[in-house]
Amino acid sequence: MKVSILGGTGRFGKGLALRLALAGYDVIVGSRDLKKAKLKAEEYSKICNCTINGLTNVDAAKLCDVAVVTIPWNDVLEFVNIHKKILKDKIVISPVVPMVERDGFFVYNPPNSSMAEEIAKILNSDKVVSAFQNIPAKRFSNLNETPEFDVIVCGDDDNSKDVVMGIVKDIKKLRALDGGPLSNSRVVESITPLLINISILNKIRELGIKVI
Ligand SMILES: NC(=O)c1ccc[n+]([C@@H]2O[C@H](COP(=O)([O-])OP(=O)(O)OC[C@H]3O[C@@H](n4cnc5c(N)ncnc54)[C@H](OP(=O)(O)O)[C@@H]3O)[C@@H](O)[C@H]2O)c1
Repeated sequence: MKVSILGGTGRFGKGLALRLALAGYDVIVGSRDLKKAKLKAEEYSKICNCTINGLTNVDAAKLCDVAVVTIPWNDVLEFVNIHKKILKDKIVISPVVPMVERDGFFVYNPPNSSMAEEIAKILNSDKVVSAFQNIPAKRFSNLNETPEFDVIVCGDDDNSKDVVMGIVKDIKKLRALDGGPLSNSRVVESITPLLINISILNKIRELGIKVI
């Protein structure tokens, strides 16, 4: 299966690209800049000893079965809008966390919504699935560690959600949990700033979640 990580040149995209490639996925790293995409893909390929390709976001989105939008939260809606025609029929994964720093970290959800729901509205699609919001990029991109995190997966289309849960399960030591409809992304997105605050206040390294 071809998975394109749009904006995959950044902090979170790196870990996702490495771990998906190691799980046997055909991974494309997307960027606004082809040269940067190719450089990052080459760098990641060397780290995991796999082949990861780099393309512009447009070409990466066109070629994939599943697209992950690893774009900063305050840019992602404009990004999705610009790429609407290409993304509207694809399964789109949103790991996006709307978060602001103001003497601590706070969730900045759109009113009565979540970033995942806003992406689905723009695409007019039920194939948007949220996942990975609570995974800390630094630990995810460090292959010396294999963190045992849970990934809560929310979506309105059962088939798309099954595909994404399958992708999560294929990543070593991650457990996929069905989190219900896409609207539950509001809760999942809001867990991340809490984890960061807990991490800072208690001087514990980057945290993820495990539901027991
Ligand atoms: N960092 C984490 O620990 C973490 C954890 C869970 C979820 N997330 C979520 O994952 C997403 C990515 O986070 P990140 O930390 O990886 O972000 P990031 O490193 O700041 O940025 C990711 C990539 O987005 C692209 N980008 C930046 N501004 C853009 C714009 N205006 N339009 C289009 N593309 C733009 C850049 O790629 P090019 O310059 O190559 O185009 C950049 O490399 C966010 O939504 C975040 O909430 C992050």
